[in-house]
Amino acid sequence: MRFDFVNKKIGVFGIQQSGKTHFARELLKCFRAPFVYRLTGDFDNVENAIIFKQTDKYGDLDLFLATAKRLGTAGKIDAVVLDEFDLFATESRLSQGLLNEMILMHAHFNLSIVLLSRRPQDIPSKVFESCHIIVNFIIDGPAAKRKFIDLHADYETLMPHLQFEKHNYILKELGRPPLLFEAL
Ligand SMILES: Nc1ncnc2c1ncn2[C@@H]1O[C@H](COP(=O)(O)OP(=O)(O)O)[C@@H](O)[C@H]1O
Ligand SMILES: [Mg+2]
Repeated sequence: MRFDFVNKKIGVFGIQQSGKTHFARELLKCFRAPFVYRLTGDFDNVENAIIFKQTDKYGDLDLFLATAKRLGTAGKIDAVVLDEFDLFATESRLSQGLLNEMILMHAHFNLSIVLLSRRPQDIPSKVFESCHIIVNFIIDGPAAKRKFIDLHADYETLMPHLQFEKHNYILKELGRPPLLFEAL
């Protein structure tokens, strides 16, 4: 991929089975050592990935983030990967604490953030609108679609071109219009 992903926030959205994991697995190749909060085995065999095996889905997030901060600062990892980000993006976690700090300060820790979610409508604007790169596969429902159209009017004409079977996607860089891409 031809984009600069260093110290960036990257959001990947789309309904179940639309292609998020496939895309993210390719994206992770662009990093030296991406650090993954493990919810499923989706990234287990990604060669350069470092997998954090949580035992408590919600309870271990702060330990993961504290570890990421330390490893990023030491130059040992260069990205954090949070799948199902909507589950973690609670109001309280995004107003204070380690997730809030990571969202705001990741570049200071030499880290990119890769967020994946099937529910973009649940991602607070503070995170969504600050993504350097937003990738979306097919999404469903007016609330999810509105989220993108509010970000840029061109989504209205691009989104009807997204097809479930094709795994094509729209990519938007911060400050630029969204563009349609064929599947990776
Ligand atoms: N670009 C692609 N080319 C071929 N198959 C793909 C592509 N993207 C996704 N798939 C396939 O579609 C299915 C769903 O993709 P996945 O990435 O797991 O979706 P999601 O993470 O959004 O649920 C998987 O079987 C995957 O192998
Ligand atoms: Mg997936």
